[in-house]
Amino acid sequence: MSDAALSARYDFAVSLAQQAGAVAMRHFRRSDGLRIIEKGPQDLVTAADHAIDALIRNAIQSRFPDDGILTEESGGDISAQVWVVDPIDGTGNFARGIAGFAISIAFSLNGDTRIGVVFDPVVEELFVARRGHGAFCNGERMRVSTTATMGRAAVEAGYSRRTSSSDYLALMARLLDAGCECVQFGSAARGLAQVAAGRIDGYVEAHLFAWDVLAGLLLVEEAGGYADPFPLEGNGQKGLPVRACTRGLARQLQEAMNGASDRLDKMS
Ligand code: IPD
Ligand code: CA
Repeated sequence: MSDAALSARYDFAVSLAQQAGAVAMRHFRRSDGLRIIEKGPQDLVTAADHAIDALIRNAIQSRFPDDGILTEESGGDISAQVWVVDPIDGTGNFARGIAGFAISIAFSLNGDTRIGVVFDPVVEELFVARRGHGAFCNGERMRVSTTATMGRAAVEAGYSRRTSSSDYLALMARLLDAGCECVQFGSAARGLAQVAAGRIDGYVEAHLFAWDVLAGLLLVEEAGGYADPFPLEGNGQKGLPVRACTRGLARQLQEAMNGASDRLDKMS
């Protein structure tokens, strides 16, 4: 794919994330009620997730009809050039009226994430990266922090019911015993963007999907950090452990994750 074709997709992704953010904000904290459906225990989806999913899917299909699309809410398949989208990451926060969610859009070419855009519409922060071109927040270059010791690190340890509470508690115990400040803000995409911005020093979670993390992982790498590979396979429904952090924390966080990161397939 030419540079011009990638640039066109990058500009498109930025504008699409902003449009999606405007839709999210029209629904956020609406007193006339937001339709919330329980997909599973503590796994919510709202009318806004579906509206944004449709907006993004339709926009990609009409502008780049040959590109594949995989989204959290309407599925899809992996192809050589594919968009991987979470319309709202942090739906639990969004549905409760809590600021702490983001739109996540990635573009992958032959298995390599080339474009990553995460937009937090509440604070209007647009996090963007193109492979080899750096990572930026609202136009300012981002760099991960210089933290290299657990005793100085703030690490987000994400949790979902796709892993056992005992594994999560064991991971938290190892992080706390190593001296980390542990946080859990409820959006992996936004958490990874905070790592890229140098506000926290790492993000770990035992099981996440491609739509949650592809954009955010590229942000961290392009901000000079370390991110575990997240290969796209099959129909894209396979979840994997995620670790993204400063280079100095990579080994220590791997040790903390050991034993708590079984690879699980998405339950239907
Ligand atoms: C969830 C969020 C959460 C993470 C979960 C994800 P959703 O995505 O990213 O932070 O811990 O594993 O499922 O459901 O809000 O799109
Ligand atoms: Ca998600």
